[in-house]
Amino acid sequence: MRVSIVGAGYVGLVTAACLAEIGHTVTCVDKMAERISGLNAGRIPIYEPGLEALVADGAAAGRLFFSTDLRAALADCDVVMIAVGTPPRPQDGVADLRFVMQAAEEIAQAATRPMVVVTKSTVPVGTGDRIARLLHELHGRTDLNVVSNPEFLREGNAVADFREPDRIVVGTDGSHALSVMRALYAPLIERDVPFVVTSRRSSELIKYASNAFLAMKVSFINEIADMCEGAGADVSDVALAMGLDERIGPRFLEAGPGFGGSCFPKDIYALIKSANDAGTSMGLVEKTISVNETRKRRMARKIEAALGGDVYRKTIAVLGLTFKPGTDDVRDSPAIGIIRALQDRGAHICAYDPKAGAEAMGSFPGVMLAGSAMEAATGAHAVVLMTQWPELVELDPEALANVMHSPIAVDLRNCWDGRRFARHGFAITAIGKPQIGPSSENGKVWDAPNPKPASATDDERPVS
Ligand code: UDX
Repeated sequence: MRVSIVGAGYVGLVTAACLAEIGHTVTCVDKMAERISGLNAGRIPIYEPGLEALVADGAAAGRLFFSTDLRAALADCDVVMIAVGTPPRPQDGVADLRFVMQAAEEIAQAATRPMVVVTKSTVPVGTGDRIARLLHELHGRTDLNVVSNPEFLREGNAVADFREPDRIVVGTDGSHALSVMRALYAPLIERDVPFVVTSRRSSELIKYASNAFLAMKVSFINEIADMCEGAGADVSDVALAMGLDERIGPRFLEAGPGFGGSCFPKDIYALIKSANDAGTSMGLVEKTISVNETRKRRMARKIEAALGGDVYRKTIAVLGLTFKPGTDDVRDSPAIGIIRALQDRGAHICAYDPKAGAEAMGSFPGVMLAGSAMEAATGAHAVVLMTQWPELVELDPEALANVMHSPIAVDLRNCWDGRRFARHGFAITAIGKPQIGPSSENGKVWDAPNPKPASATDDERPVS
């Protein structure tokens, strides 16, 4: 089939390259001429493992094209996907649909033949109906069928998530559009990928409900971790045993500094707004946000406690700035709030991230960016593992201790070997685990008493 994708961002690019890989002829359209010319020259504007090779293969096979000309792209296509951004509105965090509606308007103007119009972007419940009204009532384009087909791509894993999805969801009220979507995903359906057919509104809600539930699961284990610290339990053991219950499952039970990224926070706010529009509320989801927001200040307090209660004029090496490994994306990364809280208390921050470079530092004012983890740690009073990049997890504690001002470590991802760090003189604090002090000379490790949990008043105020 011939497919056009409107939007050459994280979702549009991956979707275009993966649809080309399964045999379709795809044109990815974007208004940003520089981005399109870069893509035509083989330059990928985002970091996503495997994407560069996939784009090169698709282009070489003559199945993947990049253009700024929507009319030309639509001239002979069967499906057009709207994959533009739905950024959160600054005033209330709700999805801004300007770009989606603008794309729909331009499709109405440019399409010269019947086709299926797919909302691939994450859009509030009812957006598909709104697009249908624009196309059918405003423009009389009843030959354009609107279908919801949300993506469930994780940044850093998006190509794999497209190739091996847990399910494909299609929301449509028309049989013709459904047959087109079945043909589009035939190679995946033939591999027994579940193909869920529902209404447009249900399909739109499935995306939000899935993301909100995942975020809630993360906040739940983060609260259990806080309880572990007060109760002297170990959250890794608790999560392991919980996850063995098939009804719970082991994934998304890794305690950490809080969730971030361009999706969870935005989608949660949008779900709450959709629920309010539907006359209901989402108390659990609202609490998920507040737990996540206050967690950043709590993490800053944890780091401060590891430094004896005072970070004023202390240098802290923060390792990892992206919201998770495998991506260059720092949008809504927990590092932003945690670093700001530490700077508010007078700390100097030296950071390193394997992929987030100088262009990401706009989100981290006042932070010095080092060229390596060891450079960041040199002379530091403490080192913090913020994002569990493999090269950061594998750092040698002895080498770190040799360059640091004082061997204090805070592991916000429970990835470092606490006892190994302690054997090299570190006092190391993790998440939901007893603190481990420097080991005694005979290698026996003593468990220092847990640092006094920060007072609730300190932690309840969300980071500004
Ligand atoms: C998410 C959804 O997983 C994906 O299906 C959807 O299409 C887009 O949003 P993404 O935002 O890329 O994907 O990140 P994800 O891997 O879900 O992680 C989200 C956040 O939760 C990250 O900050 C991550 O560090 C955190 N997280 C995740 C945890 O803290 N603990 C976990 O166990 C899992």
